[in-house]
Order: sequence, then structure tokens, then C-alpha cells
Amino acid sequence: MALVDEVKSRSDIVQVISDYVDLDTSSRQPKALCPFHSERSPSFVIYPESGSWRCFGSCADGGDVISFMMKKENLSFVEALENLANRAGIKVEERNNEPRKKPVTGLIQANEIASEYFLSRLKAPIGVETLEYLKDRGIDIETAVRRGLGLAPSGMETLSGHLRTRNVQARTARDAGLITRKDDGSWRDMFTGRLTIEIRDARDRIIGYGARTLDGSEPKYLNTPQTDAFDKSSIMYGLNWAAESIRDSNEAVVVEGYMDVITAHEHGFTNVVASMGTAVTAQQLDSLSRHATSGGPGTVILCLDSDAAGEAATMRALESVTAELNSGRRKGLEVKVARPDGGKDPDEAIRSDPDSWRASLTAAEPLLDYLIVAKSKLHNLESGQGIADFANSVAPLIYNITNDYDQDRYWSTISKLAGVTEQRLKSIVDKPRSTSRKGSRSGLVGFGNNTRRNASFKRESSSQFMDSGRISSDQVSEVLNTTGGDALEEHLLALVLQLDDLREHAIAMPPEFLHQSDNRALFTAWQSSAKLGGISPELGEDLTEKAHRLAEHELPPSDQARHVEEVTQCVMRLRERHSRKIKVLEKERLEEYKELDSEEAEELLRQSLLPNENLRKAMTGRA
Ligand code: UTP
Ligand code: MN
Repeated sequence: MALVDEVKSRSDIVQVISDYVDLDTSSRQPKALCPFHSERSPSFVIYPESGSWRCFGSCADGGDVISFMMKKENLSFVEALENLANRAGIKVEERNNEPRKKPVTGLIQANEIASEYFLSRLKAPIGVETLEYLKDRGIDIETAVRRGLGLAPSGMETLSGHLRTRNVQARTARDAGLITRKDDGSWRDMFTGRLTIEIRDARDRIIGYGARTLDGSEPKYLNTPQTDAFDKSSIMYGLNWAAESIRDSNEAVVVEGYMDVITAHEHGFTNVVASMGTAVTAQQLDSLSRHATSGGPGTVILCLDSDAAGEAATMRALESVTAELNSGRRKGLEVKVARPDGGKDPDEAIRSDPDSWRASLTAAEPLLDYLIVAKSKLHNLESGQGIADFANSVAPLIYNITNDYDQDRYWSTISKLAGVTEQRLKSIVDKPRSTSRKGSRSGLVGFGNNTRRNASFKRESSSQFMDSGRISSDQVSEVLNTTGGDALEEHLLALVLQLDDLREHAIAMPPEFLHQSDNRALFTAWQSSAKLGGISPELGEDLTEKAHRLAEHELPPSDQARHVEEVTQCVMRLRERHSRKIKVLEKERLEEYKELDSEEAEELLRQSLLPNENLRKAMTGRA
């Protein structure tokens, strides 16, 4: 049995929920005051037979024992699963039929011993210079202790030696990323001659370190490598201190560096975390979103270093955040961008003028507003080409917005920035883009083996879309993939997989509207089966996993009418998107055929457009 199913079947949902709420068990369906919103009469009902719960009050939410645990304890799906598995006495680690993370307790214990050691070195005579350095940065010994700082000495004294005296096995220390093996087979400390900074997870366990050079050597910060306990893509530095404050204030502030976080917290900015120098990942956003929106709508403020603000990499990172948000999966989460001026990083800015830093957070602007203006600056809006490039660079972001009102608002902003009418603007972005014509991607599919076609077709400009008589969904999706457009599809799937009542509103949608093949397969399976449980066996491992992920994806609390509207909107957007792309591809192909003047080309043109026209009708004609 899959772990998820085993956990569900072995968890007594009534028992679990009764740990959190006072249940009225006088009827077959136990009732309670909803733990997720405040109310006076109980509208929270448990259905022990199906292992589910539902709130009929204003949150109109529901789910199974796992989603209850996720919501109530602010846990990720995996964390909630582990928690419930422990409760039910299921030994997660010993199950070898599924690849599971290795137990990390040993690694964390090794880290705890390492931290004691690093701190003891900071306090020892060998640490005097480092303490001086910290003092210059406004950090005294009490602060250093509070914030988990220490010293990894260089020289004869080593952590590996210390770990040996504490009976920590070399393998464990290596797995924790504390030591590495040298060519001659001996062990060497990972960090030497560096200031160490503990990195804890949200559960306050030491999972790794950042270690700053003290003598200017490179890299400036050496971090724990990827280990079973330390997954850089999902960790936010400082979340152990910030989680509670983020939940209370419904707001999280993301800065870049370790020292920025430490200084922020020391100055009372308690909701600050760091992405540790990289762009915020989807997982990091998930984790922040869970905390920031736990009590209603929430905000994440990305605090950009002023030198990075205009950089292409920053821009790409912000675009991917936008795409994540457009997915609608994190409803209730707003992302803003703050740009403290003065060219200082938050550490320096806060120490020199905390009020001005606070003001820059207050002045943070919505992500998309920021992104549009930033992108407009990359183009020469005096020239037609510049305007077209700008418009096309922001169009995918706008098309992905699921809310019509917001879409209109942004079109209007963009047209003002570009100095053209909205109508003109839309005609520009609807024009076939050059991307698929350049043959720059895998591009040239030769026709050599196709006897129907002669050599004259092997031209530079031949697009792969000419290869077959019709434009397939896969070809369409290849174009779309370049703009990262699957979030909408996944949102629709999450909705219909979770809420049976929505079935009738999506069941008639042609699967071709979904351009990602795995989404299409899931959707087709859903169309032909009564419920998720029924479809999973034949889907294969990857798709089943995805189905489960989507089925567990936390949907924002909402009522039935709103959900229906959302599904309808999704279907509509997917249809629009699909027909738009079909149109682009058709036009493109038409143009390419037009450039040929042989009779055969004309014949091909007639043949190939026919099925295409039908396809288009089939896709766009249906309501
Ligand atoms: P910065 O270079 O801005 O450093 O990197 P900083 O945080 O201001 O450090 P100080 O004030 O000079 O001590 C920002 C963050 O990027 C990551 C670290 O998390 C750092 O805090 N980083 C940077 C690395 O992981 N490795 C590096 O070599 C540099
Ligand atoms: Mn700094």
C-alpha cells in the first residue's frame, strides 16, 4: 500500500482532530466549532466513514486527515504525512518499497556537537580576533550565542578530531557535510578559518552551516553541501526565528544574506528570512506562503539588493515567481518588491537607519508592477521594434493572469508605458513571434525520408511544424513551454481532482486544451473515471505521484459558487490560449508555404490546412 493510503487508513481522523477541537460526538458525524475560522455554532463536520472533514461555514473548506494536519500545524504535505505516520506507529524509514529520505537525526546530532565546538572556539583565546570582527559588525558575544555563530579554527585543532572524541562516526560527519575525505584517505574539516553560522529549519533543528571567510579568501561564504538534512532549494535561513511572526503579521520579508537576517531580527524586524543569495525557489515560496497566509491573505516582500535590481538574472527569477503566483495555487498571497535606496544591503541599512528601512518595506510595490516597469527600461520605446520586444516580453505574464480585471489593468499600464493604444498593443503581441521561425530550437526536422516531399523543402527556414499535416498538441506545447505556461493547467486539475462537484463544469473540455502531455493524460484519466482513487493504478508511478500532489494541493478557502467560477475561468483561458497558439502556428506555416512557388507546395498547402482548420474549429468552437 502506498504510504499515503496507509497513513490515511491507519489514522483515526476523529481521534486526530479531537486533539485540536472539542468534538460533539452525539451524532454519527462528529461536529465542532471550525478550528480554521471563528464561529459561534459548529459547522465543522467529520465523516469517519470516508475519513474526511468539511467546514460548512465561511471557510467552506474540506479534506482528509493529512490536509487537516497540514492546515492546523502549518506543515508541508510530507511533514504532515510523517507526523501522522509517527502517530499511527508506521515506521516510515523502514519502508523500502518507496524511496524515502534517510533518517536525518544522526546528521542533526553531529551538527549539534559541531555547533558546541564552534561556539567553544569562538569563546576560547583563539576566537579573540573573530569576536573583534563581530563587534565591528555590531554583534557582541550574547548576540553571537543567540544567533548560533561560532568559529571553525584553522590549524592543528580540528572539528574532525573533536567529533572523534565524541564518538561521532566519520561517515555520519561526512553525510552531515562537516568533513570531507582527502585524496590520501584522511579526513579534513569542511570549514576552516571561518565564522560559522548555524542554519536551522522551521523545527529549530541544525541542518547545516554557512561559513564566512575571515581573511578574504574565496568563496566568501562556504555552505554545507546538499545533504539528506540540508536541501538548499527549500530552506529559508531564519525561518526558525521568523515563522511565528510571519504567521502573526501575515507578512514575510525576504532578504539575501545571513547577516541581513541576523541584524534584522536584532533590530526587531522579526519576520525576515533569507533566500541565501539565490533566487527564491517555488518550494521556498510554498513554505513562506504557508506561514504568511495561515490566518488569511498574506504578503511576501522581496527585498532586492539595489545592485541586483536591474539584472537579467533577478528579472528572470522574478518572472518565475510571477508564473508561480499566476498558477493561482497560492491564492491569498501577494508578492511585493522593496528597493531600499542608498546602495546598502539590509544589514548596513538597518544598522544605519532602521526607520528608513522600514519605510522602504512599506513602500514596496506589487511584483508585476515592478517587473513591467523594470522590463520597459530594457527596451528603446522610441522604436517600433523596441515596443514590440517590450510588449512581447511582458505579454506571457499578462496572459497568465486568471483574473480579467487585473489583465485589463495591466494592458492599460503597458500601453501607457509603451505609448501605444491597447488595441495596437494587442495586435503587436498577437503577431507570430519569431522564436519558432528561427529554427533555433531543436528546429530543423528534415523531410529527407518523406517521399512525398522533395529536396526543395530542406531550407533553412523550414520549421518543424511543417513536418506533419496538422499541428499537434505537442507542437503547441513546445512553443508554450518556453513561456512556462503549465500553472493554469495544474490549477484546473487540482480543482477538479479535489472537488467532485466541479465535474460537470470541466468534463466536456477537449483534452487538447492542455498542452503538457502529463496534464493531458491526467485529465483524460479523470474524464473517464469516477474519482481519483479509481484512476491511479493505471497511470504509472510519475503520473500517480503528480495526481496525488495535485489532489493534495492546498486550495484557498472558497465557496462552491466561487469554485465553479474559477473552473469556468480556467477552461476559458485554456481555450483562448490554445486557439491563440494554433492561430500563430497556422499563420507561420502559411507564410512558410507561401514562400514556395512549386505546384507541390500549393498542393501541400491545401492538404495540410484542411485538417488544421477542422482542428481549430474543434478546439475553439465548443463552449
Ligand atoms: P553577499 O555577497 O551579499 O554577502 O551574499 P552578505 O550577506 O552581504 O555578507 P557580508 O555582509 O559581506 O558578510 C548574500 C548571501 O549569498 C550567499 C550567502 O547566503 C550570503 O549571505 N552567498 C554569498 C553564498 O552562499 N556564497 C558566497 O560566496 C556569497
Ligand atoms: Mn552584507
